[in-house]
Amino acid sequence: METLNVDLGDRSYPIYIGSGLLDRPELLTDHIAGQSAALVSNTTVGPLYAERVARHLTGLKSTEILLPDGERYKTLEVLQQVFTGLLETRMDRGTTLIALGGGVVGDMTGFAAACYQRGVDFIQVPTTLLAMVDSSVGGKTGVNHPLGKNMIGAFYQPQCVIIDTDTLDTLDDRQLAAGIAEVIKYGIILDADFFAWLEANMTKLIARDKPALAYAIRRSCEIKADIVAADEKEKGQRALLNLGHTFGHAIETATGYGTWLHGEAVAAGMVLAAEMAQRLGWVQEEEVGRIRTLIASAGLPLTPPEGMTSARFRELMAVDKKVVGGALRLVLPQAIGKAVVTADFPAAALTETLNAATQ
Ligand code: NAD
Ligand code: GLY
Repeated sequence: METLNVDLGDRSYPIYIGSGLLDRPELLTDHIAGQSAALVSNTTVGPLYAERVARHLTGLKSTEILLPDGERYKTLEVLQQVFTGLLETRMDRGTTLIALGGGVVGDMTGFAAACYQRGVDFIQVPTTLLAMVDSSVGGKTGVNHPLGKNMIGAFYQPQCVIIDTDTLDTLDDRQLAAGIAEVIKYGIILDADFFAWLEANMTKLIARDKPALAYAIRRSCEIKADIVAADEKEKGQRALLNLGHTFGHAIETATGYGTWLHGEAVAAGMVLAAEMAQRLGWVQEEEVGRIRTLIASAGLPLTPPEGMTSARFRELMAVDKKVVGGALRLVLPQAIGKAVVTADFPAAALTETLNAATQ
């Protein structure tokens, strides 16, 4: 097992990464301060892994809450089911919520923990690659609104993150690839060596080579933990983690949540960001080519969905959380391993990029 730390002063927490961690009760119980716990999962992951986690809760008052599975259920309405389950079992302020699942369960459970009785502890047990490398770390929690993705939420940090890499054995290939999109993101924004490692090892990753996956997860978590420690509330550098997301969220919203996977939308969004940076003269064609090739080699889409117009992109991108004072800010690469958050670009560059990609 490897242990990383997210350094946030008295809210610091460990990320445990390894094989077989669901069978290590102390990783969970050491981070449960009170006398009760609620395991929150969904109807897919619950039947696979809830029992293995729940058996460590004997001696505590506990309950299980299974949510419907899917991005379209990441809503305030469905979140009520968590609150109802907690209230029906009389869970008090000392309770700890345990999020067992992918990013949807993790984001919703974290938000429920932030709100329930004005805040209770929670633990992340991510079971998708995307949740392991990104969403379980850093404390962004929330739900979608019909008018925008992840628009209702809170920054709220977990007590720990327990990544049992064996849970990836039951994840399907499409979901694995969606997680790889976020891994590639780290290489583009901050780590050219990691990008080159991904180029050399993508075949192993998609073949589920365990050492390769373990390294990709660890390096991704290291980068994310460093960024979160430096800029927890996204006043600056953390926004780099949104490379491709402004375009991607527009795709997710336009197509209906869940049609395109989050990672797939981010993949196409990262290509758009690279193409726009090339249009601005910031990156060379050769580097954009490497980005496209790596994304394609993971089996991820390079272009937006059929029928998505440039006008629809701009309409949806206008409600992005990075819009400040009406100005759209984008994360754009300046090279592989270096990106910036900027509103300083000619509007025509965005329009031309979107026009070219949606013809
Ligand atoms: P997801 O949670 O919908 O999980 C994908 C699918 O895999 C679901 O059907 C789920 O039930 C299933 N699944 C999960 N683990 C499994 C396993 N081990 N075996 C078999 N099936 C399994 O999707 P996701 O890609 O994990 O997360 C996407 C969500 O994460 C989006 O809502 C996105 O906005 C959010 N997100 C949040 C952050 C953050 O910082 N909080 C970062 C990135 C993404
Ligand atoms: N996934 C973006 C962030 O955590 O900031």
